[in-house]
Amino acid sequence: MARTDPLADTGQDLHRFIAAYREHFAQDLLTVREPVGRDQDVTAVVWALAAQGRHPALVFEQVQGLDTPLVTNLFASRERVGRMLGGVPPAGIHAEYQARSRRLLAPREVSEGAVTQVVQSEGFDLASVPTIKHFATDRGPYITNAVVIAEDGEGGFGNVSYHRSMLNGPQEIGTSLHSRGHLWRMLQAAQAKGRPLPVAMVIGAHPLFMLAAAARLPYGVDERQVAGGLFGAPLEVVRTPRHGIAVPAHAEFVLEGVIDPEARAEEGPFGEFTGYSSDRSTNNLLRVQTLMRRRDPWLLDVVGGNSAEHLNLGRIPRESEMVEKLKERFPGVTAVHYPSSGTHFHAYVALKQSRPGEARQVMLGLLGWDPYLKTVIAVDEDVDITRDEEVLWALATHFQPHLDIVMVGGLPGSALDPSASGAGTTSRMGLDATRGPNFDGIRARLDEAATARAADLLARLAGHTDRPLP
Ligand SMILES: Cc1cc2nc3c(=O)[nH]c(=O)nc-3n(C[C@H](O)[C@H](O)[C@H](O)COP(=O)(O)O)c2cc1C
Repeated sequence: MARTDPLADTGQDLHRFIAAYREHFAQDLLTVREPVGRDQDVTAVVWALAAQGRHPALVFEQVQGLDTPLVTNLFASRERVGRMLGGVPPAGIHAEYQARSRRLLAPREVSEGAVTQVVQSEGFDLASVPTIKHFATDRGPYITNAVVIAEDGEGGFGNVSYHRSMLNGPQEIGTSLHSRGHLWRMLQAAQAKGRPLPVAMVIGAHPLFMLAAAARLPYGVDERQVAGGLFGAPLEVVRTPRHGIAVPAHAEFVLEGVIDPEARAEEGPFGEFTGYSSDRSTNNLLRVQTLMRRRDPWLLDVVGGNSAEHLNLGRIPRESEMVEKLKERFPGVTAVHYPSSGTHFHAYVALKQSRPGEARQVMLGLLGWDPYLKTVIAVDEDVDITRDEEVLWALATHFQPHLDIVMVGGLPGSALDPSASGAGTTSRMGLDATRGPNFDGIRARLDEAATARAADLLARLAGHTDRPLP
């Protein structure tokens, strides 16, 4: 019987997605009805749950000082991301994401949607857009889920990327383009022509749009087409009134305006994915000209810092691409894992080595392709790379530092790595913790019969409580 996907038909609309999720996966959605504060309380709840190993989707019905509900933590669990992608288990996310995102579908323009319910071109104050403060060390309240769309009129394509943002005045926003990605490139091009860059900032939309927005694609490939692939139907868009930028028709808020390449705004520090508070910002200024929103908008927040949500959202599209590329090029690779303990900077690879040196080549491939990585550890295929302690055991017992490190310096790296220079160069290393051809260790092992006897014994003892020895 064909599998039915209870989240498939949610109309590209966050409200309908949450309603369907609540109906079908109520055990994985926590609704907080009592009021919480606007200053750090939401982050603190997420942190306290994570310390208990819990990562539910969260709906805060009342946040003091906001007149909208707040939804957050949607991407904190890989089980949940698998459900968004049609009900695949976590181990199937990479393949499903790749299969869907490769089916690029052009957006479909519609005349109206939830986000056109309220459109203000003058007299608005951005203080009406809900924001919260995430960490004590943040400069102030932040929009963490600010998805910026820009269109290249000549190239005929758009770009979509996330940029932390804070209010800088009633109609101004300070934002950071520190990843120096495609929006940065478009801004440089606009500056060279002496023009401001028209953009639209989407704050809150269906989670599959958010996942597509986090994709890193070749310049000229439009993330809105990836969103279509993830939905399995074209992204429904409306045009913004002044600059005609195609934005999700069912978004919560859209701010349309221009980034002035010559102007600067104070912005940062902000708690970043590294777990550190960072003020390495490009300090760009967005002048907002139009505020569009639903009549009943929600604040869809992304938890900041090195939260599971922030890391998963940034990483799942990149991991999916890397896993596919690596397995295609190196058939001996059996698994790839980016551990959350390494933020975006570590990856583990398991492989069945057929030639001496293959692990090094695989590691150099991954270190070359993924611009965020600093350390890759390669292990044999029997090591469970989803568990840090197994990888560290392999490192402890298979690895000789003077022989098994490859290191390259002077490479571009993440501007937010607190250990790297502000100039943004880094070094990268591969640690070969495979056993290699000359390894002669014999693994201590148990006979299956002894393991079975122990299981029987413990089953018989179940329910017995310990008594102190006399
Ligand atoms: C939640 C989240 C927040 C992000 N915040 C920023 C940011 O503030 N500034 C920035 O330059 N990149 C930020 N990024 C990274 C870029 O948005 C991301 O690398 C994007 O995929 C780059 O897109 P591009 O390849 O189209 O340039 C963030 C990513 C995520 C997932």
